[in-house]
Order: sequence, then structure tokens, then C-alpha cells
Amino acid sequence: QDLFAPRRNSAGIEFGDRRAVASLVAERRRIRVAGLRARCAADAAQTAGAAHQVEIRSPVDGAVLGESHHLSAEAAHALVFEAARHCRAAEAVSAVRRAEMLRKAAGLMEERQSDLLAILSAEAGKTLDDAIAEIREAVDFLRFYADEAVRLFAAPVNLPGPTGEENRLAYRSRGVAVAISPWNFPLAIFTGQVAAALAAGNVVIAKPAEQTPLIAARAVEILHEAGFLRQHLYLAPGDGRTGAALTAHPQTALVAFTGSTETAFAINRALASRDAPIAPLIAETGGINAMIADATALPEQVADDVVMSAFRSAGQRCSALRLLFLQEDVADRILEMIAGAAKELTIGDPRDLATDIGPVIDAEQLAMLRGHVAHMEREQTLRYRGAVEGGLAAKGHYFAPHVVELDRPEALDREVFGPVLHVVRWKAKDFDRMLDAIEATGFGLTLGIHSRINQTAEKVIARLPVGNVYVNRNIIGAIVGSQPFGGSGLSGTGPKAGGPNYLARFAREQVISVNT
Ligand code: SER
Repeated sequence: QDLFAPRRNSAGIEFGDRRAVASLVAERRRIRVAGLRARCAADAAQTAGAAHQVEIRSPVDGAVLGESHHLSAEAAHALVFEAARHCRAAEAVSAVRRAEMLRKAAGLMEERQSDLLAILSAEAGKTLDDAIAEIREAVDFLRFYADEAVRLFAAPVNLPGPTGEENRLAYRSRGVAVAISPWNFPLAIFTGQVAAALAAGNVVIAKPAEQTPLIAARAVEILHEAGFLRQHLYLAPGDGRTGAALTAHPQTALVAFTGSTETAFAINRALASRDAPIAPLIAETGGINAMIADATALPEQVADDVVMSAFRSAGQRCSALRLLFLQEDVADRILEMIAGAAKELTIGDPRDLATDIGPVIDAEQLAMLRGHVAHMEREQTLRYRGAVEGGLAAKGHYFAPHVVELDRPEALDREVFGPVLHVVRWKAKDFDRMLDAIEATGFGLTLGIHSRINQTAEKVIARLPVGNVYVNRNIIGAIVGSQPFGGSGLSGTGPKAGGPNYLARFAREQVISVNT
């Protein structure tokens, strides 16, 4: 294999190819996900009472899919201790070999696409196109970090200069890396964090979200099969207590976390209060993501991109649109188009090809969304209420798209994770105040601008501290390598996932100066 051949993103499936889609659907029906298990791989953690069994139920229809062995806090603690014994050996595996194993895992994921699709739909409620995109993203992360491992780790960089000595910069592994991932991209984000930490030569303990350990177990199986040793990669299913114990351990050298801002704060505090070396936190959290559309924007395109950004994936993306600013001259027309397009969306079982929106992840999220809309109905103006057909609502955790018009942007004061769009009208004279309001949220993840005036876009981009800005398009679905993803402020620490600076953060730097 040519180590320096240009990288290609995974192709996924061509939806225009009817035969490929039909065979995928047929195969997906055949696969039975019952009996899946997410077991912790560490012997240290398997001692009596260290793990308790938890049933994993599908958000689609409540079916029991399998079970997870949640690690107790004590077992998580013992696991870090055990993992730390293997750090030297993990670093001794060459970067080229690590890259080879990551590429092999990418190939295995592509081969097992239909198995992964079935689990993603059943466990996380992913529609077919979301699940395909998610597998592609996971595969892309594996290949991207494989290339990055070779670029950064294969040989030290010579640093020329006036000292008359030989100066070399080398990247070294940090030790035990704890990766804590969310349920909304239970394969892609899980794999991305783990692949980066492994690429950098660390020993990795991966804690998946408690809702989605089964797909994570599959990813770990694939990585082990690709050659990573069991003592270099551990699956640590569990809940918040498991995560807290992993991050509090003095031998944890790095934490990569994607999830809520509150949890990121808690991890930061835990790391800071340890009597141990200062360990970095790479956090990717949420956002009150905004889109601004002015009177020059193309209304049809705005409506399309809004529906895609706010409602697809049931609004359960950290990049999803929460707050839409419409210039008043075009607001009514665009609102009407959004409602028209939302009405056309099919809510249903994500395993059906015709479904556009699957369930939300669990009963807690469903209750939160219902409560939020009820509150908004009292305080603000409900512009569109989607409906879930009765039979479906009785089966799983389904929530239809809603549109709420706010009298001021501050009326939305937190991230609401689901298909609820909040709209504010603006007048030309309020332009700067609108930007102030977006900045005042403190978040900075994604932002959309729809305008045919270049200076408007430039002004907004220069003014707002946002990680990913999208002009005249939707604001979701960043592509690994081309659109490195991640925000600033309350939205995260950086560096961006799938970007050129990510892997370096999983490593430590060493400079060797030789008097020649
Ligand atoms: N990477 C994802 C996206 O861009 C995060 O939600 O949509």
C-alpha cells in the first residue's frame, strides 16, 4: 500500500443504484440484532460485582436488543490501573503499523456495512441515509487518522536553526487516553475519538453512551480484529459514574469527550482537582446554532436548508439548527415554505426506506421536548406543530417537528436537542443587535448565512466566534478532512475532529537536541 497516496473519502452507497439499495434493505431485514452484547473487555473489570447487566432497548419499538455490562466506579478505577501497565508496549508499535491496522478496520467496517446499519437503526433509531452517512464518517476518520499517524509520528521533524546542533521534534504518546462519546453519533464519534487516540500510540479506554453500547462493542470488535491488542483498547460501558471514575483516576493522561457542556465542565473540574499531572481535555459540546437569512436569499433554498438542518436526524445533531433569524420582508413567505416542507416529512420506523425522521433516543428526551414545546406554547407563538400518528406514538419515542416564533432571541436560553426550530424576525437596523444576541449565547459551534451579498457574510464571519460557518447551504454533515468539525466557547475546546491539528493533541511533544 502506498503510504503517501492521496486519501479518498468513503463512497457509501449510491441511492440512485436501485439494485444496491434493494439488496441492502433485504439484507438488513434478515439481520437479527437480538442477542447483542457490550461486554467490558478488561479482566480486571470482570471481578464479581464489578459490572451489572443492563438491558438495551430500541427507541424504535421498545424491543430488547441485548445487554450491556455496566462497569462500576471501582471497576473503572481498576481498569485505568490495568491499562496503564501497557502504555510502553502500545507506544512501541510503530506508527506505520498503527496506520495499517486503522486502514484494515476501515475496510472491515465497509464490508460489514449491513450489520452496522441494522444496529444503528435499532439501537440509535437512525434512518437509512443517516446510518449510511454515519458509517462513511467512521470509515473516513479511521483512514484520516491513519494518514495523520504516518505524517506526525513516523519520523521526527528536523528543525533547522542557528544553534549549530541537530534539533528534532518528535511526537510521543501520552499514556492512558479515556474517550467518552455520545449516543447521537454512536459509531462515527466513538470511532473518531478512539482512532485518533490509538493512532497517537495511546492505550485507550472507550466509554460509549449508556444508550448505545452495542454499536460501540461492534466497533471495538472490528478494531481488535484489525490487530489492536485487547490490552491496548478497552471497552468500558457504563453510566455517568463509570465516566467520572475514569476521568478522576490519577493515571488518566488525556480525556476526549463529546456530549453536553455541563458534563464537560464536570470533567474539567475532576481533572483539575486530581493530585496528578495536568491532563488535557478535548471537549466537543453543543450549541444554540443560528442561521441568518436576509431579504436577498433564495427563499426555496433557505426553506430546504432549514428543514434539513433543523429536522433531519430528528434534530439530534450537535450541529443542528436551533435559532433561525429571518429578515422581516421575507419571513412570512419562508415560514410558510418551511411548514409546507415539514408537513411532507415522513416520521416513522427508521428501518423503512420512506422514513425521513426516526425516533428520538429515549423517554427522557421525549419528555424534555414535550415539556419545552408546552412551555413555548404558553410564552411564545407556535407556528407549526407536526403530528405523530397514534399507533407509532404508542410504539416508540417519536416526536414531530415544531416551529416556534420567539419575540426575542434570548427566549431560547439553552440547547434543545430535538426537532424544534425557533424563529426570530429581524429588521435591517437590528443587524448588529442580532449578532450580539448570537454571541451572547456563549456557544460557537455552527452558523448558517443565507445572503447574496458577500459583505454581509464576511461581516458575520469576522464578527462571530463560531467553529463551522456555512454560507448558502445547510449547516450539518461536516465531511472528515474537508470540513474539520468543532466549536469554541461553550461549544468546545478544539482542536477540530477530522482536521490537521487533532492528532497532535493526543500526543506529547519531545525535542531532542544533539551537539554534533
Ligand atoms: N459532525 C456532525 C455534523 O457536522 C456533528 O453533529 O453534523
